[in-house]
Amino acid sequence: MAQDLATHNSCYERLRIVIQEKINLQNPLIEILRQAQEIFGFLPIEVQEYIATELNIPLSKIYGVVTFYNFFSMKPKGKYIINVCLGTACYVKGASRIVSMFEDVLSVKLGETTSDNLFTLSSVRCVGACSLAPVIVIGEDTYGRLDTKKQIEDIIHKYIELK
Ligand code: FES
Repeated sequence: MAQDLATHNSCYERLRIVIQEKINLQNPLIEILRQAQEIFGFLPIEVQEYIATELNIPLSKIYGVVTFYNFFSMKPKGKYIINVCLGTACYVKGASRIVSMFEDVLSVKLGETTSDNLFTLSSVRCVGACSLAPVIVIGEDTYGRLDTKKQIEDIIHKYIELK
């Protein structure tokens, strides 16, 4: 518990330094939010309130930016983000079936995080590996020519074992 509090305080301390460093940029908000998300992993309303106070701007403005850009998230993300490519080549080769298989194996919907916070199921546009379609990306790892539920299960198990 004490460690949680210390971590919490050190996150806010890091954010305070980021704000000091960025405040004089012409448009500091996006950069500050981006770094805040790196520090906290997501942008809960308390963090938005803190930034609003420090920048002396209304919370509604920050909330508007966070909800406008889909790379900002107000919900915690899993340790592993499974990005299923929904670009044209992957779509034609059955990407939506791959999404359904992951939804099935993980018991979440696209955009959601598993209850153990290990996986977030997400989507991206073309990742530049169209010849391997359909493709998914997890961190630095790219998996292509996915077809069967067994392949999906094997990928998931690999990351469960890394945990
Ligand atoms: S469309 Fe999926 S990698 Fe290009």
